[in-house]
Amino acid sequence: MLLIWHSPVTTLICTPMARTLFVTTALPYANGSFHVGHMMEYIQADIWVRFMRMQGHTVHFVCADDAHGAPIMLRAESEGVTPQELVARIAAERPRYLHGFHIEFDHWHSTDSPENVLLSQSIYRTLREAGLIETKTIEQFFDPVKAMFLPDRYIKGECPNCHAKDQNGDSCEVCGTVYAPTELISPYSALSGATPVLKAAEHYFFRLSDARCVAFLKDWTLGSAPHTGLPHLQPEARNKASEWLGGSDAAAALGDWDISRDAPYFGIPIPDAPGKYFYVWLDAPVGYLAALKSYFDSGRAQERTGTTQTFDEFMADPATEQIHFIGKDIIYFHTLFWPAMLKFSGRKVPDQINVHGFITVSGDKMSKSRGTGISPLRYLELGMNPEWFRYYIAAKLNARIEDIDFNPEDFVARVNSDLIGKYVNIASRAATFLARHFEGAVLPVADSADWQQLGAAAVGAEVRAALEARDFARAVRLAMAFADATNQYFDAQKPWELARSETQRARLHEIASVSVHAFQSLTLWLKPILPELARAAEGFMGCGPLSWTSLPTLTRLNAYEHLMTRVDAKQMNALLEAPAAGSAASAAPRTPAGQPSPATPLAPEISIDDFMKVDLRVARIVAARPVAGSDKLLELTLDVGEGTLRTVFSGIRSAYDPESLVGRLTVVVANLAPRKMKFGLSEGMVLAASGPEAAGLYLLQADSGAAPGMRLT
Ligand code: 2FM
Ligand code: ZN
Repeated sequence: MLLIWHSPVTTLICTPMARTLFVTTALPYANGSFHVGHMMEYIQADIWVRFMRMQGHTVHFVCADDAHGAPIMLRAESEGVTPQELVARIAAERPRYLHGFHIEFDHWHSTDSPENVLLSQSIYRTLREAGLIETKTIEQFFDPVKAMFLPDRYIKGECPNCHAKDQNGDSCEVCGTVYAPTELISPYSALSGATPVLKAAEHYFFRLSDARCVAFLKDWTLGSAPHTGLPHLQPEARNKASEWLGGSDAAAALGDWDISRDAPYFGIPIPDAPGKYFYVWLDAPVGYLAALKSYFDSGRAQERTGTTQTFDEFMADPATEQIHFIGKDIIYFHTLFWPAMLKFSGRKVPDQINVHGFITVSGDKMSKSRGTGISPLRYLELGMNPEWFRYYIAAKLNARIEDIDFNPEDFVARVNSDLIGKYVNIASRAATFLARHFEGAVLPVADSADWQQLGAAAVGAEVRAALEARDFARAVRLAMAFADATNQYFDAQKPWELARSETQRARLHEIASVSVHAFQSLTLWLKPILPELARAAEGFMGCGPLSWTSLPTLTRLNAYEHLMTRVDAKQMNALLEAPAAGSAASAAPRTPAGQPSPATPLAPEISIDDFMKVDLRVARIVAARPVAGSDKLLELTLDVGEGTLRTVFSGIRSAYDPESLVGRLTVVVANLAPRKMKFGLSEGMVLAASGPEAAGLYLLQADSGAAPGMRLT
């Protein structure tokens, strides 16, 4: 229960027992820039962490790059750099995004680190000693063209569960099912387009089907955190886990987990197993611990808390709570593999897995690898306020696993009408009267009937509960309803009329003071969401940093300066027109006004016979890479259904990230005479729409279901 009492000097709120938290977000793959989905997750966690700190809890908030795995190895190879160089380049980009959106991790690390090698190998050894590791010879897909075992991601095919086409070899982006690549229907190698063949290899397995694991997981997935009594999982995630563990034979349903990959692989060597590496999903979550260890080893964790605890002591401390924020696509890994790995290596198991849904942009689903049409960097480059975005995300997020939509009109309306028209407006209105008539002096309001009637204390308690429960949308709704009530109160008192009468000065002073105290309460509630705006507001109120444990009575305001500008529709238009970093759907900028470019004159008329001379075929892009020495060309490897692959050089580099093209169906002029170019022979031409310079390039795409080799007529 929360106790609130007022004194003339401060409003004190009794906080519950201080907690010690270790909080993470999912570790992003280190082969691509952040997209808006990443920013949403980091903002969600950052808001919660800031809120918990304001409650007096100790929070260590860390993340890291998920550096290992075949995609990173292969991408580095195609760029002619080492995987470490690629990872370092991507890591160097991260601060621009994180600082840009006021996201404050305590530490950002990498899974390609000595701490992660040590911890992953140590966890593995303990699991092995517990009898939970075994080897089996299994048949695995092998690419006869590339002469290598195919990593899951490079085997594509139809999902055995929902029949979505072109799904990855380990899990389905559409229905979330996790499966073995051999279960895919009509598999093909995304590296060469070849049909993979099965080849035997020895693999290491974590025996998840062991009765101990099954019993533990059944218990844990339904269980609650000892410190809070809150369930480990949200109802939707618990139901998913129950499905996976359900049925009369959970052991068979779970199966054992293949944790090894054969060289060549960018990963952590498995102890006593030459040529074998941990599958990236084994060492990735261990990266949570590695990041925390690195943070503790740097001494900064201890500086923050004033303790001398080591990483090991911290993790062995029963008071420590472990909380992960993740997206709904990786529930399986975090509710089954990860808790079992921790449990049976004798470690603390997670207290809570907080899962969020995806973000769509105007209803368009985000692709995990390509993101959405909105680029976070572009947002910042356009001078858009990061706290508009934080506010909008908060206004949409609740504690359930629901997708949220970024809707441009809604964004502009919420920021301009709610944030500025309601909240910031209170400060500006109250400041006008206080500065003009009372030299900025503010009266205490604890004993004011008007203040008590506004009911800030009760609303604050509800906001607090909503923030703690990650129902940010409710917190924002409550805050905005309070802002509405304050504005209505202000309007009803007609302070502009009172200001004309000497005898009404005291009343005017009270109304403006009540209003600015209401603004102070709102600032406190919104501070985890809008940290920079809150800092500026604290400066204006002259009250020092606000905290839930003590809300100082205001005495004198500083000069009011604009706290926040409105969203300019032009900025929003520019954002929507901008190419999204790494997005296949993105194209070069359009004409400045965002209008389609004027049509170029039509070519002279041709007969149907003329047209039939052009043999247009559906082609699958099986590989795409930049061409050294050319800033215009991409080298595409195409499957045109002929049994062999073609190479086509295409001038689309300015508009497409090569990796994002892999697997895509397009259209090629298949009977064009091969053309010898400086870089090699080009065996056809892919079709792309283009206009005058600024209009961009748009690769043609065949609808799903079309197959390589089909003719266009
Ligand atoms: O899905 C992903 O983006 C993974 N890189 C998440 C890893 S989370 C944790 F396990 F490291
Ligand atoms: Zn599926």
